[in-house]
Amino acid sequence: MSQWINACAFDDIDDEDVMRFDHVGHSYAIYRYEDKVYATDGLCTHEKVHLCDGLVMEHVIECPKHNGRFDIRDGRALGAPVCVNLKTYPAKVEDGNILIQVG
Ligand code: FES
Repeated sequence: MSQWINACAFDDIDDEDVMRFDHVGHSYAIYRYEDKVYATDGLCTHEKVHLCDGLVMEHVIECPKHNGRFDIRDGRALGAPVCVNLKTYPAKVEDGNILIQVG
């Protein structure tokens, strides 16, 4: 059953930045860009590196290991070496907190 869970405060993440969030043994990456929030799986689909150590440029996250890039809005892999899309999760802001829908 899917549920909304509180990942962090909206102010915990700077604009154009990413934060790691772990829940029930799963790692997520939470992003903020132009006051919108997004959530994807936390590990790169190439070699399972944490994307929270990567660089956010507008709506793109660049993996810290081999610089693979994904669109944070839909998880799309944007070119070699990444070819498998990231899973995304609905995300919203409520009462100053970022909630993501998992399950
Ligand atoms: S581990 Fe992310 S691009 Fe290789």
